[in-house]
Amino acid sequence: MSSGGFVCSECGYESAKWMGRCPSCGSWGSFREKSTERARAKGGGTRRGTSDPVRLSEVSFGSVERLRLNSKQLNQFFGGGLASGSVILLSGEPGIGKSTLLMQLPSLFEDRIPVLYASGEETAFQVSDRAKRVGVEDVWFVATQNLEDVLEAAERLDCRLLIVDSVQTFRVSGEEALPGSPSQVRMVAERLVELAKTKGVIVFLVGHITKSGTIAGPKLLEHIVDVVIYLEGDRRSPLRVMKCVKNRFGPTDNVVLFEMTSSGLVEVEDPSRYLIEEEALGKPGVVLSSVVEGTRALLVEVQALVAPSVHPAAARRVASMFDIKRLFFILAVMEKHLGISFAGMDVYLNIPGGLMIRDTSVDLAVVAAVYSSFVNRVPEKSTLFVGEVGLAGEIRWVRDLELRLAEADAMGIERALIPRSFKGKINKEKLKKLKVELLPVGNITEAMEVFD
Ligand code: TYD
Ligand code: MG
Repeated sequence: MSSGGFVCSECGYESAKWMGRCPSCGSWGSFREKSTERARAKGGGTRRGTSDPVRLSEVSFGSVERLRLNSKQLNQFFGGGLASGSVILLSGEPGIGKSTLLMQLPSLFEDRIPVLYASGEETAFQVSDRAKRVGVEDVWFVATQNLEDVLEAAERLDCRLLIVDSVQTFRVSGEEALPGSPSQVRMVAERLVELAKTKGVIVFLVGHITKSGTIAGPKLLEHIVDVVIYLEGDRRSPLRVMKCVKNRFGPTDNVVLFEMTSSGLVEVEDPSRYLIEEEALGKPGVVLSSVVEGTRALLVEVQALVAPSVHPAAARRVASMFDIKRLFFILAVMEKHLGISFAGMDVYLNIPGGLMIRDTSVDLAVVAAVYSSFVNRVPEKSTLFVGEVGLAGEIRWVRDLELRLAEADAMGIERALIPRSFKGKINKEKLKKLKVELLPVGNITEAMEVFD
């Protein structure tokens, strides 16, 4: 009999024929036959919802029952509390704090609810230690890798919240594939969706993603679950960013920042203040910029140190929490258009606070920080630098400028260097209300005049 094709057990890529190497994720020897998977997928599609047509205008996020949390930020994040019967995937690298966050979750509900925490990777001893650290009591716990045990316990305890940590460690009996394989992960998720939809249980699933960004189970799961959340951060720093990338019951543009402390994750109430150290401001090589996370603008510090190298022939370029290739690019643009040379100089760049910067709107701030350290001068006033830098040294438009300026204003920044092309793109009325002085600049040569 012919099979239903093959599937990569690393990334879920499907192919009609077997291949030695996955064209999608590059793994070797990862293709498995998936004869049973297609039949399952056919049956699984209709479970959710009914087939009765509804008027779209009458459908709203508000119509689902929600369990409210005792945090304004978290309620907003989920669209007004957690929708009952929703299945939520929490993904992140190992060690980032997923288990910690979920252990704290029971204490965050406005009303006390029965909670079951199922772990396929840790013992009761390890988990109770974590529960004590975060000050949570009164949570049922089961250590097993057998999903039926979990489902049975969840029903027996009549729990309203079920935490499954992690989805890659559970198996459904009758399914031969190893835990963590695409077919097991899908089966586990589908059984949990069934529980959620029939009993109104809120189910949190933990999904590990690997350092290289390849996602074994979770990517497949994103289609099955209602909500997909990522917990990100740099393990060396305490800052964690929780983002929502999919939400069938709410918005997806919210972000909550946490700080990892000795008693668990603590919400950061004022992210801009968290990321800025007053002590460093006003020193050569330190400038301010802003990044947008979700619907929020956060001020960030950009620090550079440029100094003669002890090995001039092998000068160092180091970037922390910033893409090193982008730093090379920016240094090349500076050499060409500012007429300076970094030959024989070490260049260090750091964005303190633990937030990895992928936003090109900090380019101008990187130029300014490097230049400030190079010439050993600082601008006269507290200054925000916002703009993407192009190869011609031009300063390009960035999104959400209004948001960024409003945040700078709220933080008492005196002046903002922004792309010259801003006119017509931001609301004049809103601009008038700002106290921050705007200085539109067209290229980096003009921009660096603030250091004269
Ligand atoms: P953990 O939640 O186990 O990560 P994940 O489930 O994503 O793999 O937590 C990871 C780290 O957090 C671990 O190295 C210990 C640290 N930690 C704290 O700093 N404070 C705490 O209160 C707890 C529970 C953990
Ligand atoms: Mg864990």
